[in-house]
Amino acid sequence: MKTPEVQYPFLRACHRRPTPYTPIWLMRQAGRYMKEYRHLRKRFSFLEMCKNPELAAEVTLQPLKHLHLDAAIIFSDILIPLAPMGVDFEFAKGEGPVFHHPLRTKRDVERLKVIEPEQEVPFLIEAIRIVRKELEGKTPLIGFSGAPFTLASYMIEGGHSNNFILTKSLMYQDRPTWVKLMEKLSKVLVRYLNAQIRAGVEAIQIFDSWVGCLSPTDYEEYVLPFSKRVFDGLEQNVPVIHFGTSTSTLLPLMKRAGGDVIGVDWRVDLGEAWKRIGYDVGIQGNLDPLVLMGPITLIRKEVKRILRLANGRPGHIFNLGHGILPETPVEHVTALVEMVHEYSSK
Ligand code: CP3
Repeated sequence: MKTPEVQYPFLRACHRRPTPYTPIWLMRQAGRYMKEYRHLRKRFSFLEMCKNPELAAEVTLQPLKHLHLDAAIIFSDILIPLAPMGVDFEFAKGEGPVFHHPLRTKRDVERLKVIEPEQEVPFLIEAIRIVRKELEGKTPLIGFSGAPFTLASYMIEGGHSNNFILTKSLMYQDRPTWVKLMEKLSKVLVRYLNAQIRAGVEAIQIFDSWVGCLSPTDYEEYVLPFSKRVFDGLEQNVPVIHFGTSTSTLLPLMKRAGGDVIGVDWRVDLGEAWKRIGYDVGIQGNLDPLVLMGPITLIRKEVKRILRLANGRPGHIFNLGHGILPETPVEHVTALVEMVHEYSSK
């Protein structure tokens, strides 16, 4: 008998095996575009929801009740491991994350703790266990982390940045400190992801959301070796998706760093990108999240176009090119999921 894991279209696609239709999940599929989520958010802050295993599990499952998604992703945030490392932050209203004491010096980096995730983020481990019980035999669960570069940029900039001036200044001006920081982050991420795998996640996505601000030579020199350590350090039994935005020129290098599937945004042509990366890995993407603002005829046209570019080749996972926006009409999301299944059905 085949194990259920091998039958899930999402996991089959991660392994580039044929599927009856193209699997789809959405980055940020649990979130403010859903009224059930907004309802809970009136009573709890985002971080309270992340740190309470029952709530995190409930929010993880919310989108699956309405949409025929082919995977769940555990509700959490890429910034969660940073606070126990010693860099605390909050989500200021309407501003995204704000770090009150960003990393600026060698001493700041020396003080960072290399944490043991099972002790420091027990709520995440527990949430994964709860969700796995609920989804057993029905839907596979994805765990995730940020990649070293994207996390370093938040720690150094103190929040989001447009030009990454402080991150790149540290990288260029004080290489030993940069290396120390990236080493510590990659070590923590290996432990953090392996703890999620042991708790039961069936695939991993590594978000290097802001790495597209780098030239290929800088990526290769300052980032690739540390991202590679994270991929190489993972227990081998789960597939890994390597995602970034604005990565057109970085794709072959990202593949070299690692991943069974490379996630691309809408700024690239999916067919071209896959050809350049090579068909020995899968590809995930790449609808512009703003296409979901509609109309439905546009969504249909774009879904067909992306499916045509993937050309029925095993290994395509449909997703947005980046996270879904809170303003998205929920009925457009329902329509998207149905369309992907219908038009890719074999
Ligand atoms: O995809 C999922 O559904 C799983 C949950 C998830 C969240 N964040 C929930 C979230 C995941 C995988 C993330 C990853 C994440 N977090 C990334 C990488 C992906 C990306 O978007 O590039 C980044 C950069 C972050 C950091 C982060 N978290 C920012 C910049 C913000 C503020 C922006 C915003 O949308 O408000 C968050 C908050 C956040 N993370 C929310 C959610 C549902 C919104 C919180 C709220 O309810 O107010």
